[in-house]
Amino acid sequence: MSVIGRYVNLKQTGRNYVGLCPFHSEKTPSFSVNPEKRFFYCFGCGTGGNVINFVMRMHNLPFTEAVIQLAGDAGIEVPQISQEERRSHELRERIMEINQLAARYYYRTLRSPAAEHACRYLAGRGISQALARTFFLGYAPDGWDQLVQFLEGQQVNLEDAQTAGLISLGQKGYVDRFRARIIFPICDHLGRFIGFGGRIIGDGHPKYLNTAETPVFQKGRVFYGLNWAKDAIKRADRAVIVEGYTDVISLYAKGVQNVVASLGTALTTAHARLLGRFTKHVTIAFDGDQAGERATLRGMQLLTQAGMSVRVARLGSGQDPDGFARSHSSEDVQAWLAQAQPLVEYMINQALAQHNLDTREGKLAASHEVITVLAEIENAVERDEYIRYAAGKLRVHEDSLRADVNKHRTGGTREQSDSHTRPRNRHTIRRVQIPTVSHGELVERDLLRWVLHQPELLDQVTAAGFAAEDFAAAEYRHLFSLLVQGEWDELGANTAGQLLSLDQPTGQWQEYLNQFQAVVWKRRLSEIEEKLSSLENEREGFDIHMELYVLLKHYYDLRQTVFLSKEKRAARPGGRGEDA
Ligand code: UTP
Ligand code: MN
Repeated sequence: MSVIGRYVNLKQTGRNYVGLCPFHSEKTPSFSVNPEKRFFYCFGCGTGGNVINFVMRMHNLPFTEAVIQLAGDAGIEVPQISQEERRSHELRERIMEINQLAARYYYRTLRSPAAEHACRYLAGRGISQALARTFFLGYAPDGWDQLVQFLEGQQVNLEDAQTAGLISLGQKGYVDRFRARIIFPICDHLGRFIGFGGRIIGDGHPKYLNTAETPVFQKGRVFYGLNWAKDAIKRADRAVIVEGYTDVISLYAKGVQNVVASLGTALTTAHARLLGRFTKHVTIAFDGDQAGERATLRGMQLLTQAGMSVRVARLGSGQDPDGFARSHSSEDVQAWLAQAQPLVEYMINQALAQHNLDTREGKLAASHEVITVLAEIENAVERDEYIRYAAGKLRVHEDSLRADVNKHRTGGTREQSDSHTRPRNRHTIRRVQIPTVSHGELVERDLLRWVLHQPELLDQVTAAGFAAEDFAAAEYRHLFSLLVQGEWDELGANTAGQLLSLDQPTGQWQEYLNQFQAVVWKRRLSEIEEKLSSLENEREGFDIHMELYVLLKHYYDLRQTVFLSKEKRAARPGGRGEDA
């Protein structure tokens, strides 16, 4: 109200205030503000929204800038963003705007007479017009500079369009990157257009052309379909990951809405982090070919290391989820996903499938691989379960397999000699060497090991402002709160016992504390980022701007702290610039 009142002369009529609309010229007032709902609407031009939208429109500002301005007006200090940061932010916004223009252009072109064969191609692949609309599918016409001309007509800066990866500079001027291809627009999880995939119609090379790396598009950080899938992913508390565009579309058509595609690239930790904001459960459904299998294994390991629980839905060789979904009913598709195997089971079967179990050599080689897989299982009950499972499949005695697995687990570790006297701790000892524990958890664990060995360090941890909530692992959070309160229980004693069975960590205590600090900051930042982006998505939230001010302030404060501490550490001789 007070913000809008600064720009528009408002008069009260009943519950609302009305005035002349600042967004179009008019003589009679059709602009109204509802102060209760904190909402404005113009009956003349249809513009409406909350106070942030108002400031965005009024000053032509992107979302974040508008919030910062509001925060400033409200007397909340938001630390200055550097010139450079601001410029790169603005470039990103411009690129996404140009992408959106291009997406609309491709979309219209697909529905024009020039694209009849493209429509026929889609229909032949079972993609209905309704589906094509849902996924904003488009067509890039067959010509050299059709998009260039369109963008020029829209007064778009062509250099920016080049940075967006839509056009490139040839000898005779700008030319389109995508020509005579079906266009699959790629959005980020907030639905902003960040890139494109273009499929050739029929056979040819390359089959798909994708946006190259741009300031808003990094292959290792994108899940195709996440904008459409994220709500379903939260609801189901599970995401299905496939390889390609068409896999997403065909599964979606069969009612599987929690589906995203990695776009044929290897999964990265950035992928895991992004998806981890929505769920910790993943079903991988890659193509049933050799490349698909290899990608599956790598992807699974990576996701597991990031703390996600992974299942694998297998397909026969030569099949992909797209083909499978189109030739089966929704029920069949659901059943196929429901019977996805847990990671370990898949790996055991994978090892078994590589060898001929009817020959002695084959059986030995398979056993060897299976033992390696089994030895990596940390949970003893689970390990036993799978030893039984694998022994059945291998047709060997369960006990001999168990003996081999145990040999493998103790073999090669330096605690080998005393492992028999302390069998309970073997579990912990193995944990140190297998990289299935997340980095953050390792850092937490090492900090606690220090504190347990030198209790006087505890004061330093609390003095630095850390509390039990800063530990992500439940057992460590519990142990830390016990230490702070000076109390003790069985669970805590157990954890402490396991940690104390390890030697005191080597190196400098301060380094460990710094590492812990970095992990905690990173977590807090991504929590705030997640909250910010969910608020940003909230178009009808009326009361969100105060919350946003506060979050943004925390965010910038924290980023500044992290930045300064990095500088400090980098400046110190022998200090680490890297934070985690
Ligand atoms: P696939 O070869 O499995 O393609 O590659 P697909 O999705 O089944 O394609 P259709 O069904 O034949 O149309 C999986 C994904 O790998 C990427 C694309 O993202 C594709 O969806 N890819 C594949 C490329 O980027 N370029 C290529 O040339 C091929
Ligand atoms: Mn495929």
